[in-house]
Amino acid sequence: MRQAGRYLPEYRAVREKVDFLTLCKTPELAATVTVQPVEIIGVDAAIVFSDILVLPEAMGLTLFVEEGRGGPRFGEPIRSRPAIDRLVLPDPATDLRFVMDAVRTSTRELRNRVPLIGFAGSPWTLAAYMVEGRGSKDFRHIKGLVYDSPRDAHVLLGKLAQAVGDYLLAQIDAGADAIQIFDTWGGLLGKDEFEEFSLQYISSVVSRLNDRRVPIIVFCKDCGFALESIVASGADVISLDWRTDIGEARSAVGHRVALQGNLDPVLLFANERSIQSGVQRILEKFGFGNGHIFNLGHGILPDTPVANVRAFVEAVKSLSVVYHREPVGVGKSV
Ligand code: CP3
Repeated sequence: MRQAGRYLPEYRAVREKVDFLTLCKTPELAATVTVQPVEIIGVDAAIVFSDILVLPEAMGLTLFVEEGRGGPRFGEPIRSRPAIDRLVLPDPATDLRFVMDAVRTSTRELRNRVPLIGFAGSPWTLAAYMVEGRGSKDFRHIKGLVYDSPRDAHVLLGKLAQAVGDYLLAQIDAGADAIQIFDTWGGLLGKDEFEEFSLQYISSVVSRLNDRRVPIIVFCKDCGFALESIVASGADVISLDWRTDIGEARSAVGHRVALQGNLDPVLLFANERSIQSGVQRILEKFGFGNGHIFNLGHGILPDTPVANVRAFVEAVKSLSVVYHREPVGVGKSV
């Protein structure tokens, strides 16, 4: 999940000097904020600092990220077939070189302390932003494309799947140790449409990455209804938002995939005891054994108190030893 950001004073200090996109496009600075959560919070993995929207920018859209103006937006949303046809397939090694350099510099600065995760948005989630032009309440334009012009939607998604696959392969070649695909808006769709317009394209990206033998994490937010199909995507790890019961998910998936998640990020605004018991509940539900990456169910929120984030990480580290290790004597007669 997103773990760098405005809750950290050290991140805000970097952001005071440069705007968000300049930060993404300056590999030394991107590497600095990539490593911050490892050093300040003590997390066990880093995620390269970038944004899912730099890929559509490289495909020809104009991206604006303006301070306090409702998040990122595109200058000219995609609203026609010619606009889809005009999108270019970037060469990640050159057109997104700043991301590859951020991966290389971050890997160097991490000095093998923890693995580095590369990432991209899913084709569907990128399409949602590109067609709406920004985040939306009802996503009527992207849904309109799906309902009125499904063939055009498939052309757009096919092109995005190609671009996302190329982009993630380049991140692996630059040194990413694992990949996460964010389908933040998969849950907008009903099950049939989710499978046809989102998961199908995630699966095609995953199958292109699979022979690199790098773990692939797939996060489809609000998609608990489609857990079985997501397992079939070929992902190694399924990341759960906080609405899904991780114990039920584990019973359903068995040993086929590992699970990541799934503490409610808003719980980090509660007190330390509540955070500890939230962590404990998730560990208990998952039960003994491996195959669990403890994480939040979505990205960390901007005003989260740093002390609480530290307490959260400490609780995971100390309690997971207790809850995930099989007690001596279990299954044996004493
Ligand atoms: O933690 C890390 O180092 C990883 C960095 C990361 C960012 N964006 C940086 C960022 C990651 C993994 C993302 C992915 C991303 N970006 C997603 C998918 C994951 C998710 O959270 O659902 C999405 C949907 C986006 C699009 C996006 N970018 C939004 C909606 C926003 C505004 C949100 C906000 O808090 O203002 C951004 C901007 C953004 N991307 C910020 C960061 C740290 C905040 C910008 C800032 O003020 O510095």
